[in-house]
Amino acid sequence: MAREEEQFERIPTKICPSSDEAAKTVAAEIATLIRERAESGKNVVLGLATGSTPVPVYRELVRLHKEEGLSFRNVITFNLDEYFGLNDDHPESYHHFMWERLFKHVDIPKDNVHVPSGTVDRSAVYEYCQSYEQAIEEAGGLDYQILGIGRTGHIGFNEPGSTRDSLTRLVTLDALTRLDAARDFLGEANVPLYAITMGVGTILKARKLVLMAWGQSKAGVVRDAVEGVPDENLPASLLQGHPDVRFFIDPTASEELIRIRLPWLVGPVDWTPRLIRKAILWLSDTVKKPILKLQESDYNENGLGELLIDSGPAYDLNIKVFNQTQHTITGWPGGKPNADDSNRPERAKPFPKRVLVLGSEPHEDILCMGGTVHRLANQGSEVTLAYLTSGNLAVPDNLTKQTLALMAELEEEMDFKKGDGLSLGQFAEVILKSFEDVGDSDQDSDAVRRIKSFVRRNEARDAAKILKIDRDQQTFLDLPFYEKGRYRNFFPADEDVDTLSALLESVKPHQVYVSGGLADPGSVSGVCYRVFQRAMKRVSGEGWVKDCRIWSYRGVGQEWPLNEIDMAVPLSPGELASKIEASFQYRSQRSQFPFRASSHREIWQETDDINRSTAEAYDAVGMAEYEAIEAFKEISIAALQGA
Ligand code: GLP
Repeated sequence: MAREEEQFERIPTKICPSSDEAAKTVAAEIATLIRERAESGKNVVLGLATGSTPVPVYRELVRLHKEEGLSFRNVITFNLDEYFGLNDDHPESYHHFMWERLFKHVDIPKDNVHVPSGTVDRSAVYEYCQSYEQAIEEAGGLDYQILGIGRTGHIGFNEPGSTRDSLTRLVTLDALTRLDAARDFLGEANVPLYAITMGVGTILKARKLVLMAWGQSKAGVVRDAVEGVPDENLPASLLQGHPDVRFFIDPTASEELIRIRLPWLVGPVDWTPRLIRKAILWLSDTVKKPILKLQESDYNENGLGELLIDSGPAYDLNIKVFNQTQHTITGWPGGKPNADDSNRPERAKPFPKRVLVLGSEPHEDILCMGGTVHRLANQGSEVTLAYLTSGNLAVPDNLTKQTLALMAELEEEMDFKKGDGLSLGQFAEVILKSFEDVGDSDQDSDAVRRIKSFVRRNEARDAAKILKIDRDQQTFLDLPFYEKGRYRNFFPADEDVDTLSALLESVKPHQVYVSGGLADPGSVSGVCYRVFQRAMKRVSGEGWVKDCRIWSYRGVGQEWPLNEIDMAVPLSPGELASKIEASFQYRSQRSQFPFRASSHREIWQETDDINRSTAEAYDAVGMAEYEAIEAFKEISIAALQGA
């Protein structure tokens, strides 16, 4: 029976402490099933998924095979889907993905592996799909099916509109799905239009279903699938009613569930100051009244009667939360020297502070906190902007080619010789030629990636310059996990931690600004955050750490909700304008390029909207009216290390 707090949930959902732990639980269940079947001489039929989500499960299964002797000889697998039109060896094909992540590392017989073919002749697709269904039946049906979830709510490639009874078939990919895949394919234009996928009906026939979801970007769709009514427009919701379905999610993917978002509605709660603030800011938003105008009736009519009994009356609660919210606002993010700091988010001393701003890619710092960076530097702090990855995977070819063409042209004008090797222009010609030799979605050569890194470095320098930050305050770490990896296969290694700990030790910061704590742990910013956690653990014995505060910013395109904000830095109209001007410098990230082609919005527009709407949110609860606000949440060193 579901517990009281899960009363709105129509699918049993386990919120695990981290994606790694969830993946270990799922892998352990699979391993137990494999072993039990092996003992009685039977096969086990697994339904497998692709995407970043199941990667930690495959990693753990490979570990169990290598270190604990788990054999896959009795395992038969069927994958959910494959892009239509891709050869098996295409780097983005799901065949390639599965062999690289799992099959080639274990002892599964090749003939036991089934991944839908992306190269069936169009006229033979129907028969092919029927034969895929039949093969599943003949193997005895799916024993254990793992699933991820797309932002459209798709499972496999069953996009909105897929019926409950649908079977394996050729489908058209949703525009949002193609946009999400654009990064992997180095451009939306390269993403296939169609795919072959098991149907919702095929999936529902599996005896056990486990859906996993990590990161904040999945929180909304998880809520709809778990708490909404079953709806073909959200195919994952059709899993409701299956006799053995479970969701395993991480804390950030759980954020939209009622038990997390509005816990007071589903049972008794421990009214901590933070929860009180969350409840009252929610109430203010719900009844559209500023905090100081909230009345007892507003509390009672919106499920907060218990709070009144516990900590009321409303007048006292209102004042308390009003003050708390007011005290998050500061024009001095580095602390105000010689001022009473008892009600300020940052301490006055020491001053000036050494400040380290970490950006997972070379545009994140300015886009998310350019106004704060400007203030910190302007008010005397020693600011270092450090970029953890080069970001070169996100640079479109055409921009790189333009840069090279410019170099080649320069060569004609100037007599440049690079040692006794190639001239600058000859070098550029060789690289330009190399674009012709590889397909659009093939991996870039090291030289091309290097050049793309320089493109991003220069953008980051141009942006910082507008905010009056010198280039010697910027440092580019080019962490190896990114240089060696590709999307959906990033993993933090010791060498990444070495690099970042060395930087921390050399700066000995009083403040670190960092993002990525809520991101999918397999994403670039999610991996960067884990590298940061490990680096901080490594340096935890150093004296300066006791005096260091960690401020978390949300990352590109996002902002903290009001109740999570510990420091809000208002920007004047002029400061916002400079930040936006700085944001124009990220030419490689502009929407006319394939990565963002169908979002129709430039990143500077998103930035502008986000900062203005945070200011509006403060205004709506009764604070002063500002043009724009950048927001931060404090993370205690203990919370950072305990995670
Ligand atoms: C793809 C796959 C799905 C997967 C989804 C989410 O579209 N066909 O099976 O669940 O992406 O991907 P990710 O796990 O990378 O978020």
